[in-house]
Amino acid sequence: MSYNLLKGKRGIIFGALDEKSIASQIAIKCKEQGADIVLTNAPVAMRFGQIQELAEKLECEVIPADATSVEDLENLITKSMEILGGKIDFILHGVAMSINVRKKKSYTELNYEWMKKTFDISAISFHKLMQTAMNLDAMNEWGSIVALSYIAAQRSFPDYNEMAESKALLESFARSFGYHWAKKANVRVNTISQSPTITTAGSGIKGFSDFYGYADRMSPLGNASAEACADYCVTLFSDLTRMVTMQNLYHDGGFSNMGMAPEVLED
Ligand SMILES: NC(=O)c1ccc[n+]([C@@H]2O[C@H](COP(=O)([O-])OP(=O)(O)OC[C@H]3O[C@@H](n4cnc5c(N)ncnc54)[C@H](O)[C@@H]3O)[C@@H](O)[C@H]2O)c1
Repeated sequence: MSYNLLKGKRGIIFGALDEKSIASQIAIKCKEQGADIVLTNAPVAMRFGQIQELAEKLECEVIPADATSVEDLENLITKSMEILGGKIDFILHGVAMSINVRKKKSYTELNYEWMKKTFDISAISFHKLMQTAMNLDAMNEWGSIVALSYIAAQRSFPDYNEMAESKALLESFARSFGYHWAKKANVRVNTISQSPTITTAGSGIKGFSDFYGYADRMSPLGNASAEACADYCVTLFSDLTRMVTMQNLYHDGGFSNMGMAPEVLED
């Protein structure tokens, strides 16, 4: 249902690869709520993903950008302002990738060059994005910037591997840069810590489907879906959450505050 919560707002959405991507659901909901958006993803995703189909459906443009390249980010943000007709009101960072996870390296056998790449793609890109947008003076007053995180930033989830440290870094960038963005233009910066969700990135984690079921039983409301995450994200992009900043916000059906759930012990 549309409440026109984002009417007249301009946004950039990173990370829509296919229909399962959390970012795809966010893009759909942002459009439903009246926003004008630009989709972006790594150049390689243009070939493997279904981003063009999504863009046609949502009648929006796609601008390729490697999130680790400041040059690509400058081009993306400048072109987005041209296409959308003004400064940006919201940005979604839904970018993550680990070569160590992909190559099934265990946490005690990590390749450090790949680890650096993981941190660059999954966390430092968030800083690069915010710094580039600040240098280009690209955000409107009271704008909103959100990145997607996971509770492995705070607790130990052995199979989440080096992505745990990536998320810890990502959340820290939200807190630290949140100060500077608030002072510059009252822009807020938050991370959403989302339930396990069946997507390309999620399914790459070892034992993901068993873990997905465990988290579902451990959460009194069950796992939060990508669609529900998109609804939450819309509220954070809207004018109804203007004083929320520098937070890591759990969107996980209650998982993060559970100790023991009897449902986990049931056969
Ligand atoms: N799926 C889950 O269980 C889950 C849970 C919590 C948080 N998250 C986070 O949500 C975000 C979105 O992931 P998803 O689960 O929707 O999976 P996804 O695989 O659909 O999305 C990951 C995206 O990152 C993009 N990407 C990778 N390298 C890039 C680069 N160099 N430049 C630009 N884009 C690049 C991919 O093309 C893809 O679109 C990620 O940050 C992920 O860690 C996912």
